[in-house]
Amino acid sequence: MCGIVGYIGGKRAIDFLLDGLTKLEYRGYDSAGVAVNCGGDNIFVEKAVGRLDSLKQKLKNNLPAGNVGIGHTRWATHGRPSDLNAHPHSDCNGNFFVVHNGIIENYLTLKQDLIKRGHKFISETDTEVVAHLIEENYHGDFVLAVRNVLAKIEGSYSLLFMSKFHPDTLIAAKQDNPLIIGIGKDGENFIASDIPAIISYTRNTYILNDGDIAVVQKDKIQFINRQGTPITKKIFHVSWNAEAAEKGGYEHFMLKEIHEQPKAVRNTISPHLNGKVTFNELNWSADFLNNINKIYIVACGTAYHAGLVGKFYIEKLVRKLVEVDLASEFRYRAPIVDENTLVIVVSQSGETSDTLAALKESKRLGAKTLAVTNVVGSSIAREAEFVILTNAGPEIAVASTKAYTTQLILMFMLALYMAQLSNSIPQAEIERLIKLLKKIPAQISETLSDVEPIKTFAQIYGFNDDVFYIGRSLDYCVALEGALKLKEISYIHAEAYAAGELKHGTLALIVEGVPVIALATQKSVYDKTLSNIKEVKARDAVVIAIAAQGNDQLSNYTDHVIFVPDTDELLIPLLTVVPLQLLAYYAAITRGCDVDKPRNLAKSVTVE
Ligand code: G6P
Repeated sequence: MCGIVGYIGGKRAIDFLLDGLTKLEYRGYDSAGVAVNCGGDNIFVEKAVGRLDSLKQKLKNNLPAGNVGIGHTRWATHGRPSDLNAHPHSDCNGNFFVVHNGIIENYLTLKQDLIKRGHKFISETDTEVVAHLIEENYHGDFVLAVRNVLAKIEGSYSLLFMSKFHPDTLIAAKQDNPLIIGIGKDGENFIASDIPAIISYTRNTYILNDGDIAVVQKDKIQFINRQGTPITKKIFHVSWNAEAAEKGGYEHFMLKEIHEQPKAVRNTISPHLNGKVTFNELNWSADFLNNINKIYIVACGTAYHAGLVGKFYIEKLVRKLVEVDLASEFRYRAPIVDENTLVIVVSQSGETSDTLAALKESKRLGAKTLAVTNVVGSSIAREAEFVILTNAGPEIAVASTKAYTTQLILMFMLALYMAQLSNSIPQAEIERLIKLLKKIPAQISETLSDVEPIKTFAQIYGFNDDVFYIGRSLDYCVALEGALKLKEISYIHAEAYAAGELKHGTLALIVEGVPVIALATQKSVYDKTLSNIKEVKARDAVVIAIAAQGNDQLSNYTDHVIFVPDTDELLIPLLTVVPLQLLAYYAAITRGCDVDKPRNLAKSVTVE
């Protein structure tokens, strides 16, 4: 987590630093800070706890003029959010400044030793040790000092250094957390954790790999490894446009991203449909597939929920065993993985630390690895043997929406592709499903066309303390995602249960007036779900059902029904999730919550 920016050039650094941090605020917003070299001995530093706006407020009539600077937006790990713990951090004499994203795992030992040697610490952060270490290791050569410090620290980081002694140089280093360099046109260069920060300045970038060090000057960028050997890197041209990363007239990124789903899903489908389903980037053979006897899908958060749906797709269409695992669990429990295992990692950002570690562990154990991600050039995309991309465009809101639906459609297509290879289902069935999947973008648009009833439900039920979501089969998977959306942005306690499991405990929580969102679209288990709906109704719950158009009898057993267009029960999660996303959005609005930046959360979780 945390966002890093840096500028070196001929313009006022603070303008890019604040603009870049605004674009990176999704990475954390516990505090923000900047350090700008204003020439001579004068390093301007300002920090503020809380949102970036607090920093902007402090800086209002006092913007530094210097042309070199670094900035940071923080998601607190070591040390509570406070002015003192805000980055940039510096050494005892204010000669070196550093911003950091990640965790220095051996910081306590390093800190104790530094204190013994007379260093004075002012923060509780792990990052401050880096600044003091630079101070100790500097003997006139900035790059050598950084290399020596990197040799001493353990953990994950992207780091950006600035020194009073070298006003013409910024040094960046990466290990496990993302960092890019934006190549400016007019004697200026940019450094940032992520593309949205630099996209309105340049589309030409260098993406740092683990172990890379970049020495950035206004008209020169050099790369070395930790041993000091020069390395050559290729320019990566970003194809997104700047508008795609802006709100485009919507009040929040989340609402914009919900409404972008038809396009995002269409863009994800189209590269892979050519009469049949194609994945040129995989080019698997029937033999390749035959040799796989077990599949894991590993992910975190919303991507994990997409993985649960993916399991249904692959098991149903390919008839291969699939286990779905949380990346933070998988990596530490000695999973049974070998060269006949396919590990599919799903990650919107391609940077989630736990997912990346699970991927590395799977590779170490010899598994075939496939990444489903939204970010070309991300750490996960670069680490996996095979990569398939969701074409969702940049997702900024912390609560994931279009990433989820594009992950679903891509996994559905992956399952169809595998089914084609293994002849696990009849050709006619594949053709029927392809026909239906082509209709999905238009059906999502239809689902989005009338949000008024959902707004009203959100206003009525948005003040309840608890909301329950129930469903069976794929409806249960979507219920989990719906509950996650509600709790993360509206702070309502929301729980999803497999409807058949209610009677084993949860039913005790159902009392008069408790809202229950019941998904009832899975035809194979419809009657069973209906019985469960009757059970909660009998306890006087308020039931809002989500059902396919044509299921008119459901209103006899529920308080309200939200209809989505009908399709195959495998594809309907792409439609049923939409009203759940909107319900969460409008509930959060009703409660006055900060939709795009929910408390304590961040978009990209690059710490364990
Ligand atoms: C964070 C985000 C979620 C996301 C999860 C996994 O918790 O807030 O929206 O689902 O990370 O992120 P990934 O980028 O790996 O999909």
